[in-house]
Amino acid sequence: MSTIGGTISVDSSSPQVGTTPWPADEDEPWIPVVRRKKQSKDPRRSRRSGAARAASSRLDGEEQQRQFETPPNPSPQLTLEQIARRHDRISTEWRAGACCAQLRSLVEKSLPSHVRLTRAVCLGIGSFEPVESVPMVARVAHVQLEAFRVMAELLEAHCGAPVQRIIQEPCFSPTDKQFCESLGFRVVDTPTAFDMIDGETLLYGIHLYIPTWAQALRKQLPGCWVGCRVDDCERYRDLQNQDIDIARIQAIDDTFDKMPFPQEKKGDFTFSDTVVYWAQR
Ligand SMILES: C[S@@+](CC[C@H](N)C(=O)[O-])C[C@H]1O[C@@H](n2cnc3c(N)ncnc32)[C@H](O)[C@@H]1O
Repeated sequence: MSTIGGTISVDSSSPQVGTTPWPADEDEPWIPVVRRKKQSKDPRRSRRSGAARAASSRLDGEEQQRQFETPPNPSPQLTLEQIARRHDRISTEWRAGACCAQLRSLVEKSLPSHVRLTRAVCLGIGSFEPVESVPMVARVAHVQLEAFRVMAELLEAHCGAPVQRIIQEPCFSPTDKQFCESLGFRVVDTPTAFDMIDGETLLYGIHLYIPTWAQALRKQLPGCWVGCRVDDCERYRDLQNQDIDIARIQAIDDTFDKMPFPQEKKGDFTFSDTVVYWAQR
């Protein structure tokens, strides 16, 4: 299954989905979520069918990409402490697992022969309290964030200087922002991060929409790009029937080394279709 466009599908036949309040108690069991094998309808895509799509082709890239911003949760309830506790629990478990070990190994082996990275930009991580109110969806944000932090730590250790961490996500609540700041991130509003990318940047975004990538790459190529596979970009562009310039994405595919991002256990889609592109020195 592809998660291009990043849609996480929950089984709407489950009576819990969409109706179960977020469990405030950390010990409360997580709700099992069944993902559809194949998505006939991506809600974010179907919202934009027909006239909307035709209209979007007349918009410039920045306006076009704004349609792909997830709106913030209108009624977030978690406190900063609750989000931080959940993150501690999820990230501790994830750091002890095989996916994290493989990611460390990939980065450590690549560091000597690939361009130096002095800044790390994270896009589209999602909210730590998403509207869906399904813990598994929020787990994705925690795990993706932790993987980004691990990469930044390794870069920092290698270059012996602080690596600035920047994060941009339009759906962040004020508490999401506070949480990221508490971890040392600089939180910026879109499109600020797009203009902060240069040849020494790690640009990281899992399951982002192609118009978002097109904007992120509009000025300069990063030194390292953790994102989707280029052949998926092509496929997604066709699906969207949009006039999106993916020449810069193609340039990365042509010139950078390409490594599959380590996967979580079978059946987990946290890093599905994700690739590390890193320019050689
Ligand atoms: C498909 S979701 C992926 C979420 C998560 N990374 C995942 O794998 O489930 C795409 C995310 O990109 C975010 N996004 C859209 N426009 C953005 C922008 N200009 N800057 C940063 N993130 C953006 C959306 O708000 C949304 O959360």
